[in-house]
Amino acid sequence: MTRDKDPQRLIRSHLLHTEAYAAVSPLEALSQDAGVAAEHIVKLDGNENPYGCSPRVREALAAFPYYHVYPDTEQRELRKALEGYVGVSAERLVAGSGSDELIDLAVRLFVEPGEAVINCPPTFGMYSFSTGVCGGRLVEVPRDTDFAVDVARVRQAIAEEGAKLVFIASPNNPSGNTTPKDDIRHILETGAVVVLDEAYYEFSGQSMADESRKYDNLVILRTFSKWAGLAGLRVGYGIFPESIVRHLMRVKPPYNVNAAGQVAALESLRDIAYLRQTVQAIIAERQRLLQALSQFEGLRPLPSEANFLLCHVAGGRARAVHQELRKRGISVRYFDNPRLEDFIRISVGRPEHTDALIAALKQIC
Ligand SMILES: Cc1ncc(COP(=O)(O)O)c(C=O)c1O
Repeated sequence: MTRDKDPQRLIRSHLLHTEAYAAVSPLEALSQDAGVAAEHIVKLDGNENPYGCSPRVREALAAFPYYHVYPDTEQRELRKALEGYVGVSAERLVAGSGSDELIDLAVRLFVEPGEAVINCPPTFGMYSFSTGVCGGRLVEVPRDTDFAVDVARVRQAIAEEGAKLVFIASPNNPSGNTTPKDDIRHILETGAVVVLDEAYYEFSGQSMADESRKYDNLVILRTFSKWAGLAGLRVGYGIFPESIVRHLMRVKPPYNVNAAGQVAALESLRDIAYLRQTVQAIIAERQRLLQALSQFEGLRPLPSEANFLLCHVAGGRARAVHQELRKRGISVRYFDNPRLEDFIRISVGRPEHTDALIAALKQIC
């Protein structure tokens, strides 16, 4: 094909070099690389729920008779059911295909091409990714050495750059720490829209949902991927100022939460007692994992309020430890960026996963 016919020339220029999102490897690839059957892979890289979804969700999915019918574009039943769980009226709730989609929608709704978005790295990669795809301008205000948000510099950056949108994950991925509510309030005072990502809320118990009515610039995002074990079905939701909801409903893809996702989320909300048990098991295992890792001279796990731990690896060996574990069928997360090059992130698994990890680390370290 001649160059002047190459359809790539028609691609929007800012998208030609956007970096792809660095996603975790799928189970099949991990299984193939390690030569270990998929069911024996110890998958501690995606912050998924190692207990899976509620057994009632599987039954509800099998029994649902309407997969041939489009789902409700207004998500009425799901938003109504969320009212009780979240403590916020349905008029202020919108569900998405994972909270990933709501991150993207927030940028699309508020940010014109070239406008600033404040990001506090190291943090979840979707904020910079969606900003890039939407043509926003990423302004980075790095977290301090303890991974705390630098509130004064965030406020300054909002003022200097005229930023409309700020992303803050609490607990933060990958550091596991929460941001104090007073810090969030302080940033909200600037008037910029603060997207407070509470994807790991169930493991920390800290939320600003009960204050959301007070602020018309606060957006809170949550997900069924982590606590409810529905990562593969892609259901997240957000608490938005009421005036914003009708605009979001207008611009979101019409059937963004598919029928299976809606059935699974609804049934999860009917089986909260079971899901709370698995959350408690993960919180208990988080403590055991922290203690077990602390026994290694070269490892320094950081305390976490999420379902994963960030662990410092001494001697520049983080990447090597990640690779050695992977060869043994144990997948943890390594981030190829300068701030995190001496860390691995380990999702909290079942007790037997912790045991397998510790046995492998004894061989490696
Ligand atoms: C902070 C944070 N927000 C959002 C998400 C995405 O969640 P979902 O599966 O709902 O898209 C993740 C997933 O890892 C995350 O760590």
